[in-house]
Amino acid sequence: MRAVICKELGPLENLSLEEVPTPPLLNGNVRLRVLASGVNYVDGLLIQGKYQIKPPTPFIPGMEVVGEVIECSDDVSAELLGKRVLANVGFGGFATEAVVRADRVINIPDTLSTGQAASFLQSYLTGWFALTRRAHISVESSAKKEQWMLVLGAGSGVGLAAVDIGTALGLRVIAAASSQEKRDLALARGASAVVDSSSEDVKERAKEISGGGVDVLYDPVGGSLGETCLRALGEDGQYLVIGFVGGIPQLPANQVLLRNRRVIGVDWGAWAGRHPQENAQLLEEVLAKIATNDLCPVEPQVYSLSEAAVALKDLEERRVAGKVVLVADEVK
Ligand SMILES: NC(=O)c1ccc[n+]([C@@H]2O[C@H](COP(=O)([O-])OP(=O)(O)OC[C@H]3O[C@@H](n4cnc5c(N)ncnc54)[C@H](OP(=O)(O)O)[C@@H]3O)[C@@H](O)[C@H]2O)c1
Repeated sequence: MRAVICKELGPLENLSLEEVPTPPLLNGNVRLRVLASGVNYVDGLLIQGKYQIKPPTPFIPGMEVVGEVIECSDDVSAELLGKRVLANVGFGGFATEAVVRADRVINIPDTLSTGQAASFLQSYLTGWFALTRRAHISVESSAKKEQWMLVLGAGSGVGLAAVDIGTALGLRVIAAASSQEKRDLALARGASAVVDSSSEDVKERAKEISGGGVDVLYDPVGGSLGETCLRALGEDGQYLVIGFVGGIPQLPANQVLLRNRRVIGVDWGAWAGRHPQENAQLLEEVLAKIATNDLCPVEPQVYSLSEAAVALKDLEERRVAGKVVLVADEVK
């Protein structure tokens, strides 16, 4: 099989696409012919050694794949053969084949294309966990009182999923993004208003649009933008700490005290690892909403496996609107 190899943690350009032995098929596992691999911002951090987890090298990056089951171990039902499934593989996704535990493969709703299915898992489960389990937002709570959510980085993976999920949960969403293409994607997912984060004062615009202050701030960006936008929260507003692509924000405690604001950490990955059953329930809820078209993950941009470094660089340098997947070179 062919796979993208990270031989040592460092620059993205050092990734190489190589012919490698196929992994053995152990009991309880199935082999997938990978149809598409989702690319996440965190993949780039891991490869460059900038993430809190430092994987031993060499390793094959890529966490989420959609594939066709081409082989089952003797103890796994052959009924799975030929099925198009989704799997959260941890590592090993940027390859033409992957071996995964049969009890971990996920059926894909017919409403999802292969690209959508390969690129929604991390961003949608993070968003659903953040909003329903951490911020305790529900369709019922939104119906009682109009609530506004400001989403930063709203035209990209995690942010765009939050726009979609917030809208489905009845929130009115203000989407802040740096390009027209990104803002258009957010509008297509139901945002009530958009703000140009490259030229407008996001905090002031969010306060104006929401009529005084937002109820929820969904922040995968952090940095000075997150610090400033804390002040866009109204009484009892919730700041959801999601990520730090723009740096770790230094949040002033006095601004948290004022207006009884709340700062809430969100670490979906670690929570999912510690609570597999609750995470399976989370996934079921998201898949049900996708099946009824209440949630609609974006159709991703497609790169080939040999372009993995380019795709990761484009993500890192903010050129990607929406999501990215990798496919085998002969497919693209
Ligand atoms: N907490 C959790 O459980 C969890 C789970 C998954 C991911 N995350 C985190 O969420 C964050 C976003 O992930 P993602 O996959 O959505 O990333 P992404 O697709 O690359 O999007 C990040 C967006 O942030 C904006 N941005 C603002 N300042 C930036 C800067 N200095 N550098 C790069 N981008 C900047 C960009 O949008 P504009 O151009 O519009 O500004 C960019 O498109 C990451 O930090 C990731 O680790 C957290």
